Amino acid sequence: MTQKTWRLGVAGLGTVGSGLLQFLSERPDFAPAGGKAVITGVSARSKSRPRPVDISGYAWFDDAVQLALSPETDVFVELVGGSDGPAKAAVEAALKAGKPVVTANKALIAEHGAELAALAEAAGVPLLFEAAVMGGTPAVKMLREAMVGDDVASVAGILNGTCNYILSEMEASGRSFADVLGDAQRMGYAEADPTMDVGGFDAAHKVSILAALAFGCAPTFAAAEIEGISQIELLDIKLAKDLGYRIRLIASADRSEEGVAVRVHPSLVPLGHPLAETRGALNALFIEGRRIGRIFIQGPGAGSGPTAAAVAADIADVMTGASRPVFQAPAGKLRPFVAVAPTRRVGKAYLRLLVRDQAGVIAAVSETLAECGVSIDSFLQKPVEDAGGVPIVLTTHATAESVLTDAINRIEKLPAVLERPRLLRIARI
Ligand SMILES: NC(=O)c1ccc[n+]([C@@H]2O[C@H](COP(=O)([O-])OP(=O)(O)OC[C@H]3O[C@@H](n4cnc5c(N)ncnc54)[C@H](OP(=O)(O)O)[C@@H]3O)[C@@H](O)[C@H]2O)c1
Repeated sequence: MTQKTWRLGVAGLGTVGSGLLQFLSERPDFAPAGGKAVITGVSARSKSRPRPVDISGYAWFDDAVQLALSPETDVFVELVGGSDGPAKAAVEAALKAGKPVVTANKALIAEHGAELAALAEAAGVPLLFEAAVMGGTPAVKMLREAMVGDDVASVAGILNGTCNYILSEMEASGRSFADVLGDAQRMGYAEADPTMDVGGFDAAHKVSILAALAFGCAPTFAAAEIEGISQIELLDIKLAKDLGYRIRLIASADRSEEGVAVRVHPSLVPLGHPLAETRGALNALFIEGRRIGRIFIQGPGAGSGPTAAAVAADIADVMTGASRPVFQAPAGKLRPFVAVAPTRRVGKAYLRLLVRDQAGVIAAVSETLAECGVSIDSFLQKPVEDAGGVPIVLTTHATAESVLTDAINRIEKLPAVLERPRLLRIARI
């Protein structure tokens, strides 16, 4: 093995960037290939911002692109974030200059992964992003390396710790989504603008990357179906539990003969299932291989230390000479992404209605469902204080989503129904 010194240019000195600097200061012996990794240059927005790590020993670059292109940078480490802007410009510049890139940037890889993979492979350099999905828990390497001997049929899991924390806390404390989110923001668990997390977009970025690695298709974030958790009410959490379920934000990618379905939805998971028991900010993932069977991993999906460890693992791969395709297949041979039409989806569902407390309502709802061809699996009616009506909740047998939508549209028009019925999917995991 070469006793080479690898000079790192690190752009982004926030949670992850500072964590990486901290890691390398604590581990000066970090030499996975016998060589040495040293930081030579850094870049961030503000040179004068106080930081938890001393950066005075590194060359400062106002412009991340200049850092990527510096002759003192052998490996460019992008920890700025964002699908476009300086992160994309600097990663492109590094790859075009023939430099290996390590990034934690899920938005960049999910939205521009195929074109960046083509640049990396044309230059013959690695583009690595273990930290982009599940932070410190190694999901990317598992799919890219350990599972290539199998045909992965599906991946499904909890990929956003903020949402899982909020859902867990709503259940544990009996507080509303807005209250728990406010606390999470004050404590720094959630961003000031929580849209990426609670809107499901962050999980969709991550599962788009996992789909590309699992199925050898281009990451296609634009085709993902996305629903976040901001509409989840405490009432649904309680009713789901009475029915034997817990609500989780499930990100999934499934491959069938029709194509690939990439989805993020709040879903009901049976109590006792490992995803239902994944609490707080943890992440968890099932991978289903046709030969290997089911694999389950669970661990921290964010945080300075865990994420920096994943970045360091990618730096180690660069030092040991990683030369795999960026996704499962070379960029020019990635399968075209064929999205499964939402109307083709079939699954069990939870429907929650708020109705007037009057005779004949349940019969009217049941009749409408029967006319639409929806078969009821279970039914629950519970007086709930201050709900402004009587909530009734039912679960269905497997039904096409188009049929359910039709049923919901018709039920909403019944005179005794006070609001549009709430639909949640029951996870098929
Ligand atoms: N946080 C996590 O736990 C985690 C987990 C997995 C993946 N990631 C990913 O890791 C990346 C970094 O996340 P983070 O949490 O570390 O973000 P962060 O704390 O917000 O830090 C972002 C860093 O980028 C710098 N920056 C912003 N705009 C810049 C520009 N125009 N030019 C140069 N630098 C710029 C900022 O500079 P200043 O410091 O001067 O403002 C800051 O140092 C993102 O892609 C994120 O999705 C994060």
